[in-house]
Amino acid sequence: MELKTLIQRTRTVRRFQEKETPPGKVWEEILEVLKLGGSARNLQVLKYMLVCNEELRQKIFPLLGWAGYLEQWPGPASGERPAAYLICLLDTSLSIGTEREAYCDLGIATQNFLLAASAQAIYGCRIASFSEEKIHNLLQLESHLKPILIIALGYRAEETVLESVGSDGNIRDWRDNNGVHHIPKRSLTEIMVSEPASSF
Ligand SMILES: Cc1cc2nc3c(=O)[nH]c(=O)nc-3n(C[C@H](O)[C@H](O)[C@H](O)COP(=O)(O)O)c2cc1C
Repeated sequence: MELKTLIQRTRTVRRFQEKETPPGKVWEEILEVLKLGGSARNLQVLKYMLVCNEELRQKIFPLLGWAGYLEQWPGPASGERPAAYLICLLDTSLSIGTEREAYCDLGIATQNFLLAASAQAIYGCRIASFSEEKIHNLLQLESHLKPILIIALGYRAEETVLESVGSDGNIRDWRDNNGVHHIPKRSLTEIMVSEPASSF
């Protein structure tokens, strides 16, 4: 598949086929890309925990905040909740760089991961809205491992469509009457800033 098509279809998905757990071999393949991303000073300060265990998933779910723009929606119902979570951890014992650098690494690593996952029909939702302390305690993490992002994962149970941001400037994602999720993106013209006219 063309890279651009893969990027276009790697959209956030929040409703999953909860009972369909991807096989171990598929996880191995997509987890592999987590180690391949660029890293500031090549410090590689990120660590990861894949959570597939059902009991643990049930305990993680209520700690997460879902789709702030869908105000009436409390998050995925039972049966459409994530089949797995990838917990992204900052290893503070390695982090002699800045947090800003770690967050750049995180963006690179998670995008690589979500692209590799969607190539295997697995989709996800990055979740930054959670209590770091509660997740830390629940997962019995060592003190130097700080949870900084959680990716909800699984085979999709919802359709997503890219839209252009209209003249009203609305960038909020929305769901239509058929349950299709629409994600507005700004145009290239809007995101590109002109270089200055040559004056040197
Ligand atoms: C750093 C980051 C944090 C996010 N946190 C949440 C979150 O806490 N809950 C949620 O439902 N979605 C979260 N999202 C998903 C965004 O809402 C989603 O990326 C956005 O609506 C655009 O959709 P797209 O990913 O399909 O382009 C997060 C995305 C990013 C990049």
